[in-house]
Amino acid sequence: MNDFELFIKEYFSHFKASRIKEAMYYSLAAGGKRFRPSLIFAVLEGFKIDPKKGYHAALALEMVHTYSLIHDDLPAMDDDDYRRGKLSCHKAFDEATAILAGDGLLSAAFKVICDDKELNNDTKVALISDLSELCGANGMIYGQCLDLEAEASQSNDIADLYEIDDYKTGCLFKCAMLMGMRIAKDEANYDFYDTFAHKLGRIFQMQDDLFDIIKTSEEMGKPSQSDLKNAKLTALNYFDKDKLIALLNTEFAELHTLLDKQNFNTEYLKRLVDKIKER
Ligand code: IPE
Ligand code: IPE
Ligand code: MG
Ligand code: MG
Ligand code: MG
Repeated sequence: MNDFELFIKEYFSHFKASRIKEAMYYSLAAGGKRFRPSLIFAVLEGFKIDPKKGYHAALALEMVHTYSLIHDDLPAMDDDDYRRGKLSCHKAFDEATAILAGDGLLSAAFKVICDDKELNNDTKVALISDLSELCGANGMIYGQCLDLEAEASQSNDIADLYEIDDYKTGCLFKCAMLMGMRIAKDEANYDFYDTFAHKLGRIFQMQDDLFDIIKTSEEMGKPSQSDLKNAKLTALNYFDKDKLIALLNTEFAELHTLLDKQNFNTEYLKRLVDKIKER
């Protein structure tokens, strides 16, 4: 177990023993790829700051991301039975427990930031404010709402897809980048963090849409063909498979170009971008 995973495990000793704690930990510690925490750490490393300084923020964000996945898998949403290579929370436990485990993770996230002993209060308030805004009804939740409304859509306007992706996925990537920015005190370069995160979020979601049709459930740890089952509006409504792969390659290259222009060490972010590209 690496240091961040150990930190997650230790943090869980804060919670009372309960079925909800078990369900929260079951989903959180189930082996997600941890790309959002890694984005925070990559920004910090670019400023020669110990990634441990980002652990509380990263755990808070990963809790929110995990809650969004637990709820995303519920029958009322995407109705998927597998997640992170195991049964989804509502299948391993039951629906009521899965709803409450999501609520528990979301509520805990803000306390995790408050519990950080290293950051000053101004930074913590900024982190909480960003997280709240970006995960809520102006952020990820807004995107999830659009995603559900767009089921069976015949849209041929790519702006419809981009709006969904920018919110449902881009906002939590933006939160990761802003967390790195705030802990590194690089607010002067806000526009870079914002632009990079939204571009990466969009590419990441379009790649996820592609994997839904080309990868197996075993490879992804979640059901393939889920978007087809739900008639989701995805990148495949606008591009055939080969065009989408070509587009993603171009977009990944543009991320490198953007990183080349920054005046801090972006090698860690570049490596992470490559890891996401090759996943
Ligand atoms: C899944 O995110 C949800 C999307 C935005 C497509 P990840 O692919 O990062 O899921 P985990 O965290 O590795 O399980
Ligand atoms: C979900 O998008 C994004 C979230 C905010 C949870 P998807 O529904 O495509 O994610 P997967 O494919 O289930 O991981
Ligand atoms: Mg979904
Ligand atoms: Mg889903
Ligand atoms: Mg998907």
